[in-house]
Amino acid sequence: TSDRPLRIAVIGTNYLGANTAAGMAEFGFDVIGVEIDEHRLKLLNDGKAPLYEPGLDPLLKKHVDSGRLRFTKDYAEIADWADVHFICVGTPQTEGSDAADLSQVNSVVDMLAPGLTRPCLVVGRSTVPVGTSKVVERRFHTEAPAGEGIEIAWQPEFLREAHGVEDTLHPDRLVFGVQTPAAEARMREVFARPIAEGTPVVVCNRPTAELVKGGANAFLATKISFINALAEMADAAGADVTQLADALGHDKRIGRGMLNAGPGYGGGCLPKDLRAFMARAGELGVEEVITLLREVDDINQRRRGRIVDVVHELLGAEWVGRKVTVLGAAFKAGTDDVRDSPALDVAGRIQLHGATVTVYDPEAMENARQVRPTLRYAASAAEACEGAHLVLHLTEWPEFRELDPAALRGAVENPVVVDARLSLDSKKWRDAGWTYKAPGKP
Ligand code: UGA
Repeated sequence: TSDRPLRIAVIGTNYLGANTAAGMAEFGFDVIGVEIDEHRLKLLNDGKAPLYEPGLDPLLKKHVDSGRLRFTKDYAEIADWADVHFICVGTPQTEGSDAADLSQVNSVVDMLAPGLTRPCLVVGRSTVPVGTSKVVERRFHTEAPAGEGIEIAWQPEFLREAHGVEDTLHPDRLVFGVQTPAAEARMREVFARPIAEGTPVVVCNRPTAELVKGGANAFLATKISFINALAEMADAAGADVTQLADALGHDKRIGRGMLNAGPGYGGGCLPKDLRAFMARAGELGVEEVITLLREVDDINQRRRGRIVDVVHELLGAEWVGRKVTVLGAAFKAGTDDVRDSPALDVAGRIQLHGATVTVYDPEAMENARQVRPTLRYAASAAEACEGAHLVLHLTEWPEFRELDPAALRGAVENPVVVDARLSLDSKKWRDAGWTYKAPGKP
């Protein structure tokens, strides 16, 4: 491979795969992404991501145009073409259980293995239960014509939605779970760019690499639930949880990241990864880990109920006939992703009590409508506020911080705002005559 760029295949084109494919092309390699859905395939080959991710479309377009990046649905095109195959498919929660559903990973092996007639490196990037790479390796070795010439590495990634491009091109750290020096050398070749920029590299065995990812997400979830537990204490004691987080965060050992109190964590990763981690701990017989993390999950769920309680206190006894405006549907700002979104969950609970709920989100309306078709949707924040008895801020879009509470006052029935994200300017809202309430702030 010395006189041509490395050839990289990226299987799966959701957040992880689309960012990985674009990032590998930016690193200078020839890349083919695999996507089996015709509609998504067409978008990708036009240089468009099939999801909302700031900065991703321009990078895809740049490399589709440069000829370095293209997408196919045909595994035969990549099997013996690529030097390195990245597995980037989803591992959602299994219906009716906490465990991860590995069917997409398994079907990648089914589709890819029969075509691998020469040695290559297969790198798993999907978040999987510890022990998965060993099973995947066994299957490649028996099902691929190249047999034991196929080397399996695991390389967890840590990209955040809404920051996927940045996290792909400039990761905090690189973790290579490898079995041989040859695999390590190949990984260093693939990631030469970020390594040259000084990104730290941890080279470890594969179970360690698999555990890093679950461990990182479990820790991040724990930080969020920890500060949300302190928000409950702050409420009871008349303290301000945001100032508390600032003061704690100045301690370098603690750090300010992931200490924003609010409606709890949601999305396609933290909630399901925490549960899959517990399920695997159970299978391994390490019950203590489950006890610790079960509470993290419980605090997270309790947070949503607490917001509904605050809304109820402010609305008075009657839910029926009350109009509640929900600002935000995405699980966090900067994305159109509504998977396990606290905003939609809280909106749904309020509707279930009998109130009329109108939702507005700058990017996630289409996805929200699909998941919660019975909620009402408005075309703007101002329209969503018309006739409202209470306005509930649930996703921290910059647009909501820019709202003019004085202007909105005329549109609502009662000027009451619940800032569940603790990020609106309380003084501005109070000065405009609103009752401002944020759980965790006095
Ligand atoms: C998360 C991790 O941050 C990534 O490192 C990881 O790679 C990714 O999962 C994954 O496993 O693929 P992401 O789900 O995009 O990334 O979102 P985060 O920014 O971590 O936010 C997760 C949830 O926690 C959101 O609902 C957010 O609103 C909430 N959150 C975040 C808080 O409530 N408080 C905070 O201080 C931070």
